Amino acid sequence: MHLNSLPQLLYVIFIALLAVSGAKIQDRADVVTDFECPSTVALAFNEADHYKNVDYDPTTGNSINGSFWTDSNTMETLHLLMLQTGRSDFDGLADNSFLGRNALVPSTNWETFTGPFFDDAGWAVLALWTMADYKATRHQPDVDDFFAAAATVYDLIASNWDDTCGGGVWWTVDHTYKNAITNELFLTLSAQGYLRFKNETYLENAKKSHVGLAIVEGSGMRNDQGLYNDGLVLGTCVNNGETTWTYNQGVILSGLGALYAATGNETLISEAEITIDATIRNLTMNGILKESCDDVVLEGIPCDSDQQIFKASLPGIWLKHLQYFLTFVHPNHPELAAKYNSFIGSQSEAVLRLATDSQLDIGSVWYAADAGGSIFSVQSLASGIMAHVTNAQYGPCL
Ligand SMILES: *[C@@H]1O[C@H](CO)[C@@H](O)[C@H](O)[C@H]1NC(C)=O
Ligand SMILES: *[C@@H]1O[C@H](CO)[C@@H](O)[C@H](O)[C@H]1NC(C)=O
Ligand SMILES: *[C@@H]1O[C@H](CO)[C@@H](O)[C@H](O)[C@H]1NC(C)=O
Ligand SMILES: *[C@@H]1O[C@H](CO)[C@@H](O)[C@H](O)[C@H]1NC(C)=O
Repeated sequence: MHLNSLPQLLYVIFIALLAVSGAKIQDRADVVTDFECPSTVALAFNEADHYKNVDYDPTTGNSINGSFWTDSNTMETLHLLMLQTGRSDFDGLADNSFLGRNALVPSTNWETFTGPFFDDAGWAVLALWTMADYKATRHQPDVDDFFAAAATVYDLIASNWDDTCGGGVWWTVDHTYKNAITNELFLTLSAQGYLRFKNETYLENAKKSHVGLAIVEGSGMRNDQGLYNDGLVLGTCVNNGETTWTYNQGVILSGLGALYAATGNETLISEAEITIDATIRNLTMNGILKESCDDVVLEGIPCDSDQQIFKASLPGIWLKHLQYFLTFVHPNHPELAAKYNSFIGSQSEAVLRLATDSQLDIGSVWYAADAGGSIFSVQSLASGIMAHVTNAQYGPCL
């Protein structure tokens, strides 16, 4: 399948859904009827509006109390929500955002913003592409500035590839750590880049980063439970056994899904299902995603305050990349959307019923009612919005 952009891909998938619905009534009930259920769409926009009205600073284009990488994720999410619903509520936000204003200046030195971190650069590319996709649907003339900025940032990441530990990009400019998130982002960007631009360099990068992630001198970033640990021990190149953050189980999914859409290799689907099922089994409590930093009780919180703030956005990122995975595989595997429909719905429902306060702020703990341990930040709000956005596309009506 050769498509030039994500909106086109989404359109083809929509057509494929219609075709499926004609053939199999049950799938239609599971997938098409729930597609963009009005109540879940309203819930997602309600929280997204709250973010824009309360937590977004239009003079800087940043979130109040946010950070570069979590803001990239939030901008991506708001534009994804508009794309999947065909709405334009946040039209103009792309150009006003910090990322967007810098994309509109060709001389921007992106290294100043991504700093030494190549994972931060990866999140920025995803945001720039999603904003560009939205602009393309509205025929906005500056769309190419966003694609050009994304290409520059992508090349920054790609230039940090070497063959150490079976191949992969380094986490930072210091070249001291090869970790899962940076390489998963590079995989998904490379595979999605190929689907968008048909540029073989992207496909080659996707294939080699998949090999680097999966096979590292007999070990790998994925452990025997099917979960990705944080990274590799430099020197021995073995899995370091560190935290299995939920986002490490998520970003791999969109990478495998996009590489599947590019190659048709069915093994990539089973590989993804192993990690989805392991996440549902191992990284949940009461059937709801639980980051290792999450605890309803204040004294019990097992992470430092920096981790609590940054990692509060991770379960939402897991859901967003599950959503991308389902979109990439949907034409051939509509059964997967049905398989994960109710899990997706439960997450969004828990966010609504257990994590949302009377001001519409959303805390980091979703799995039970807060007893003082839930962190309320712009990152945890963004994470909750992601849960509702994914539910609006692939979950049941709430
Ligand atoms: C930002 O953080 C400060 C200091 O913690 C806090 O007082 C303020 O309410 C926060 N603002 C928003 C919009 O979250
Ligand atoms: C393909 O992508 C690579 C990496 O971004 C870039 O250097 C190259 O110029 C692109 N090739 C074409 C034909 O656009
Ligand atoms: C499909 O993917 C698997 C898993 O990465 C790999 O081992 C296999 O070689 C791939 N098949 C083809 C035809 O590329
Ligand atoms: C996953 O679950 C198994 C079995 O319940 C347990 O032994 C293991 O420690 C868990 N792993 C993680 C990373 O949570």
